[in-house]
Amino acid sequence: MPIEGATYVGADVCKECHVEKYDDWITSGHPYKLMTPEKALEIRPGIPMPEGYTKDDILYVIGGWGWKARFMDKDGYIITKTGEDHSVDGSNQYNVTNGEWVDYNAGKEVKYNCQKCHNTGAAYDTENALPGIEVTWELDGVQCEACHGPGSEHVALGGNKSMITVDTSASLCGQCHRRGADDDKIPASEGFAKHHEQYLDFLAAGKMSVLECVDCHDPHKPVHAGATNSVEGAGIIKDCEDCHADAASSYAGSVMDIAGVKCVECHMPKTSKSAVAVSEYEADIRSHLFKINTDEDAEFTYIDAENGNEYANPYITVEYACLYCHEDKDKAWAAQNAPGSMTLQSEVVEEPAEESTMPEEKTPGFGLLSTLGMLAIGYAVRRR
Ligand code: HEC
Ligand code: HEC
Ligand code: HEC
Ligand code: HEC
Ligand code: HEC
Ligand code: HEC
Ligand code: HEC
Ligand code: HEC
Repeated sequence: MPIEGATYVGADVCKECHVEKYDDWITSGHPYKLMTPEKALEIRPGIPMPEGYTKDDILYVIGGWGWKARFMDKDGYIITKTGEDHSVDGSNQYNVTNGEWVDYNAGKEVKYNCQKCHNTGAAYDTENALPGIEVTWELDGVQCEACHGPGSEHVALGGNKSMITVDTSASLCGQCHRRGADDDKIPASEGFAKHHEQYLDFLAAGKMSVLECVDCHDPHKPVHAGATNSVEGAGIIKDCEDCHADAASSYAGSVMDIAGVKCVECHMPKTSKSAVAVSEYEADIRSHLFKINTDEDAEFTYIDAENGNEYANPYITVEYACLYCHEDKDKAWAAQNAPGSMTLQSEVVEEPAEESTMPEEKTPGFGLLSTLGMLAIGYAVRRR
């Protein structure tokens, strides 16, 4: 609950007394959600502006830290026309992972109405607004006070605890990591869930939804390897095996464990799309549904009979959990092999000495080791 009378002071002020938290936060994606072009070029050197624009024509770069960037003109509209004389519809979203320009609302007039989730202290005042921005905000990006509330009173009293909010609930994160008004509908498009839906996934995650986001996440640290962070998963404070010792021990030593496949690769595959779909069953944002439905007939997305929209079901299906690695197999194979896949042992058995085709072999088990070695190489190649 916001402290009465308090105003926003900005992360630089918080830094004076909380330098460790600040140093974590500054490497995460949150501060960089809305940046001046100068800032964007600083964290991602060489990031291009849309064709027909220089950085002096851009008021803000929207995103560009992790997946994609969109651009705002000096009137506060999102740029949707590009090219020399701005006559080309589209080519207005830059995907940072593959350097491609794609269309976002090509040619349409699009206001910047994204402030609630991309900024701190969206004030809903219209005084200093631009034509394309109906309401202004206090601070660019997701700063400390987006989660802790305005901090002027806390600062004025030298760090009084009762003058600052600490909210550990998933619904804090769910203010922004969700889409749409319905708690039980996960919007999807062309076979993938849409992005910023972690909270909706999580509500649907069956037994796992007893947790809060911060049971696994340090909210100040990054998780995605974006422009200011190179370590995937850096902000995860509890791993799967910390809570699932039994599952972890039955997985240990299995074929896929030995090949280096991690829990998240089956249970949190990239079923949501922000910028790029790498292949039919792999996009670029990890699922938070955790549960895998091994039924061959189960579909990940469905069309709602009432409104005709596409939504995701509350589980991951096997083509998404398995086939982005096993590209030469099909869904029937995945469904057949999924049950028990965590405990799958190698099929290579020791052959009796007299039947051996490699009598000169001196090291027992060499065949198995080399097979696994080959598989690991194949795996590394396929993982790009
Ligand atoms: C003048 C130094 C100072 C500044 C500036 C400051 N804090 Fe603090 N803050 C403290 C101190 C000291 C504590 C610990 C209080 C205690 O443990 O009794 C604290 C505690 C907190 C806590 C934990 C509260 C709790 O209930 O455990 C949060 C969250 C926090 N600060 C956030 C912020 C934010 C956000 C800002 C910037 C708006 C900020 N602080 C600026 C000194 C400061
Ligand atoms: C995305 C939301 C979010 C942002 C942004 C954020 N915090 Fe926090 N912070 C939390 C939550 C949730 C907790 C309590 C859970 C925890 O400790 O993991 C917390 C805990 C704290 C604490 C007290 C707990 C401790 O470990 O001592 C301090 C102090 C604090 N934050 C300061 C800051 C400062 C300073 C910033 C900006 C540089 C900041 N936070 C940015 C969500 C956030
Ligand atoms: C309900 C909150 C919410 C709204 C509204 C919202 N976004 Fe976002 N957006 C997010 C979150 C959370 C992420 C990051 C997590 C994810 O993508 O799963 C994100 C990511 C992005 C990214 C990629 C950031 C990067 O670093 O690559 C862009 C670009 C973006 N949004 C643009 C927009 C635009 C433009 C609008 C308004 C037309 C908008 N968003 C409205 C919450 C929101
Ligand atoms: C005010 C809106 C808002 C709130 C509240 C919020 N987020 Fe975010 N979050 C965003 C936006 C916007 C992005 C995309 C940032 C970017 O790409 O630059 C993001 C990105 C992220 C990312 C990916 C980037 C990274 O640093 O790895 C993680 C993880 C994340 N948020 C976790 C959380 C957690 C956990 C909470 C709750 C404690 C939370 N967020 C609360 C808006 C929010
Ligand atoms: C902080 C503890 C914690 C962590 C970390 C954790 N889990 Fe869980 N998980 C639980 C709890 C509690 C349940 C529900 C009780 C149960 O089934 O054991 C659960 C249930 C599950 C289920 C069954 C869901 C269902 O509805 O049937 C799966 C699958 C699962 N977890 C996978 C994972 C994976 C994969 C990870 C790592 C990304 C993970 N968990 C990390 C606590 C945790
Ligand atoms: C090769 C893909 C794969 C990997 C890797 C994997 N799992 Fe699973 N896991 C599955 C499938 C498929 C199911 C559901 C079918 C089943 O019961 O075998 C499942 C089921 C589970 C369940 C629910 C069991 C129950 O009875 O409700 C938990 C918990 C779980 N996994 C945790 C983990 C953890 C922790 C790891 C990492 C140590 C892990 N899994 C690694 C594929 C995988
Ligand atoms: C059971 C542990 C767990 C819980 C609970 C959890 N997460 Fe995560 N989250 C993870 C893991 C693990 C990753 C992936 C780390 C990696 O890529 O290595 C992740 C990744 C993310 C990402 C980055 C997505 C991407 O593809 O890069 C965002 C954003 C995020 N989580 C937000 C949330 C929010 C918001 C909540 C609560 C609604 C939440 N998480 C709850 C474990 C968890
Ligand atoms: C991150 C990549 C990855 C994911 C996801 C994955 N696997 Fe695997 N899997 C491997 C690797 C690497 C091996 C080692 C042998 C190989 O290359 O085929 C393997 C081996 C196997 C094998 C034994 C060898 C064979 O091809 O018959 C089976 C069966 C199998 N996986 C089934 C599954 C199923 C079912 C799923 C989904 C529940 C799954 N895998 C998810 C990478 C993956």
